[in-house]
Amino acid sequence: MKGELLYSGKAKDIFATEDEHLILSAYKDQATAFNGGMKEQIVGKGKLNNQISSLIFEKMEEAGFATHFVKKVSETEQLNKKVDIIPLEVVLRNYTAGSFAKRFGVSEGIKLSRPIVEFYYKKDELDDPFINDEHIYFLGLASPEELAYIKAETRLINAFLLDLFGQIDLTLVDFKLEFGYDKSGKIILADEFSPDNCRLWDAQGNRLDKDVFRRGLGDLTEVYQVVLEKLQEVV
Ligand code: TMP
Ligand code: ASP
Repeated sequence: MKGELLYSGKAKDIFATEDEHLILSAYKDQATAFNGGMKEQIVGKGKLNNQISSLIFEKMEEAGFATHFVKKVSETEQLNKKVDIIPLEVVLRNYTAGSFAKRFGVSEGIKLSRPIVEFYYKKDELDDPFINDEHIYFLGLASPEELAYIKAETRLINAFLLDLFGQIDLTLVDFKLEFGYDKSGKIILADEFSPDNCRLWDAQGNRLDKDVFRRGLGDLTEVYQVVLEKLQEVV
């Protein structure tokens, strides 16, 4: 089943499978932040993120979103469609936080009247710079039509996720998505959806996401476990 290691990322290893159109994503017990500037082994993190991401992608598939998710195959691994990844981090913000608050000198937690979609160029050597649509066309990362699709799909996914997290009284502050081309050239949602790549605040303002690690606020697995248990209540 598990073939050669195709790529080793910060949070996942990607393996080939017997089917050239499928890959195995193995979630690691590793947390990083600031482009790997901060790195720690955290026992149990891989299992938690694989469970959370599998559960959310299953719900998205049920709702009709086109994703790379095939199935969860073990505690830490899932089978995914192989995609040609578009090197863009697509960030959607419902509230101000993180780099947005810093960049514009505003406090965290201000509700944006219309959610804002941002793009970052996925390139470690450049530290994933903030870019706009014109830069994306210059770099040949996506066409105007493709980018319009990615933006619209991201907003639809946001509406779906706001409802899902609303059911468990968590505020979805922001999140990051990645898209890729499947074997037929169609753009589908790829990567993962876990507290590693979103911000979730509870009603008391506690952070149930990777900010716990980035900012040294507590135990990462404890808060990820809370997110998983809450999600399991509604799915
Ligand atoms: P930011 O406020 O640091 O720009 O992060 C915005 C969202 O994107 C937040 O939910 C965390 C997520 N994110 C990633 O998934 N990967 C990254 O490399 C960064 C910088 C942010
Ligand atoms: N994902 C990035 C890293 O691993 C940054 C972050 O999530 O804060 O370094």
